[in-house]
Amino acid sequence: MNLSSKRRGFLKRLMAGSVAALTQPLLVESAEAATHPGFLSDSPQVVDEAYWQTIKEQFAVPANLMMVNAANLCPRPQFITDLIRVTATSLEKDVSFQNRSQFEARRQLALEKLAQFIGVSSAEVGITRNTTESNNMLVNGLDFKAGDEIIIWDQNHPTNGLAWEQKAKRQGFTVKKVSIPAGFTTTQDLIAPFQQAITPKTRLITFSHISNSTGLMLPAKELCQLASSRGILTLVDGAQSFGFMELDLKTMGCDFYTASTHKWLMGPLENGILFSKKEHLAKLWPSVIGVGWHDDTQTVDKKICLLGQRNDPTTSALPAILDFHEKIGRKTIEDRVRHLTLYLKESIQKQIPQASFITPLSAQMSGGIVTVSIPGKPSADLFQKLYSDYGIACASVGNLRISPHIYNTHSDLDKLVKALVTLSS
Ligand SMILES: Cc1ncc(COP(=O)(O)O)c(C=O)c1O
Repeated sequence: MNLSSKRRGFLKRLMAGSVAALTQPLLVESAEAATHPGFLSDSPQVVDEAYWQTIKEQFAVPANLMMVNAANLCPRPQFITDLIRVTATSLEKDVSFQNRSQFEARRQLALEKLAQFIGVSSAEVGITRNTTESNNMLVNGLDFKAGDEIIIWDQNHPTNGLAWEQKAKRQGFTVKKVSIPAGFTTTQDLIAPFQQAITPKTRLITFSHISNSTGLMLPAKELCQLASSRGILTLVDGAQSFGFMELDLKTMGCDFYTASTHKWLMGPLENGILFSKKEHLAKLWPSVIGVGWHDDTQTVDKKICLLGQRNDPTTSALPAILDFHEKIGRKTIEDRVRHLTLYLKESIQKQIPQASFITPLSAQMSGGIVTVSIPGKPSADLFQKLYSDYGIACASVGNLRISPHIYNTHSDLDKLVKALVTLSS
């Protein structure tokens, strides 16, 4: 990676703990400026393979390893790791209230940028620790009673499935699980099972925007429209869409949305988001009451996310990773990931014709996940051998799940398919 000499000097002094660098409290803004990769000052003029190679070089993944597991956990660009390390080092040396006071402003900046990123107001967003926590905060924070029904998709993540079933046992409401029958070809085929499950008692419909197991993408906007036309709330689990695709939650029309920053956003570990429309804040119970909480608070972050002392250096890096996405271009990122998954699907189809796809081939019904099965080859074995013999990290979710991101190139995917051809023979 190309560090400017200014940046190198700053990091060296800071890591060495030199007096010059440490007599003043470190401002996160200075760390951000010093760790920022210069080439990102402008949006790219030409987006070609050479550009994506430059992007790949921003990540610390060594040449003998390949990460194609974005659906689970992404590496971060090196400058984000540097920023967190520099900020954490400074915090270790000065944990005074004075030094830490800057983190509140950083959190506000992160909330504003997150809100802009998903097209809502900053009062409607809270920073949690991950999607798991965001989903559970909604499960525990919304009141339903005996006689009420909620509809969940059978492909929901357990944090948005099992969690509802547990709550229903305690509170006596009913959870209806909807399956999408095989053979679907149209958007209406994906909507119909939800439509058929609705009754006058339905209070909420909740689904993963993109399934983490099959990679199937649901028509979120149409489902939210259907629900709101019947006065039903919607919770969209966006763990597999946030950071991958351009999102405007106002247009999507969901009431609640949850996601993590360490997946497709390639951001700091252990930060998540919880969006709630402002009009629902009054009916949302907090699961945790932290210092500073009060009943008439007007923001999601202050009402739901006051979790005591937080890991401020990671949250402080959120603005920088959001800027990274904006500079490259959110549509450019989505287009690139879609291009890579299409390239992967076509290569597998051509070179391993016996493979069958669990993820739909159509871009309209899928995102950045490719789930595939190879007859006679258990996915758990393929998953292990890909890593042990080829250094390729993917996932086994009943089938083999491959989820590339902008740090992968055509040449990575060629290597991956070549390895799969060998392992499939
Ligand atoms: C759809 C979905 N929801 C929730 C989660 C939980 O995410 P986290 O582990 O970041 O809390 C995942 C993780 O893969 C997911 O795919």
